[in-house]
Amino acid sequence: MIKKLFAPAFFVVICLSASLVSAQTVHHTAHVVHAHKPTAADIAAGKALFLKSDCLTCHKLDVKVVGPAYYDVAKKYPATEADYELLANKVISGGSGVWGQVAMAPHPTLTHDDAKKIVEYILSLKPGKS
Ligand code: HEC
Repeated sequence: MIKKLFAPAFFVVICLSASLVSAQTVHHTAHVVHAHKPTAADIAAGKALFLKSDCLTCHKLDVKVVGPAYYDVAKKYPATEADYELLANKVISGGSGVWGQVAMAPHPTLTHDDAKKIVEYILSLKPGKS
């Protein structure tokens, strides 16, 4: 009697753990897809948006003007999803305190997506690459 009950119970345990493992795999894959790596097209789109906006009034690639040189920004932040998000939000809301006391003007008309593409472009920069 005990043996008869044990076999099905054991089977259920195996099924449960198999479905847990596959649920974890699905979750992991979904996470990887979400953390998107910018393509060359994203970066080109970011550069075009950057040239259309007012960024160059205060920033140059290689020297500090009102805001920090973009080569320095790219050196400070590794190009990760968290940094794209952080800096896209900063470009939209503006603010000061990271590079000095002067504040960056807010850019409320930029969409989050466009701000993020511009940041992806900026973080792809290094001396000699514009
Ligand atoms: C009015 C001048 C001004 C304009 C216009 C401007 N910036 Fe800035 N930017 C600044 C200043 C000043 C800082 C430094 C802010 C700080 O120290 O926190 C800065 C910082 C930054 C940073 C680094 C932020 C950080 O927290 O490290 C990024 C990225 C950036 N700007 C992108 C842009 C982009 C993209 C545009 C155009 C859409 C733009 N800026 C337009 C003045 C400006």
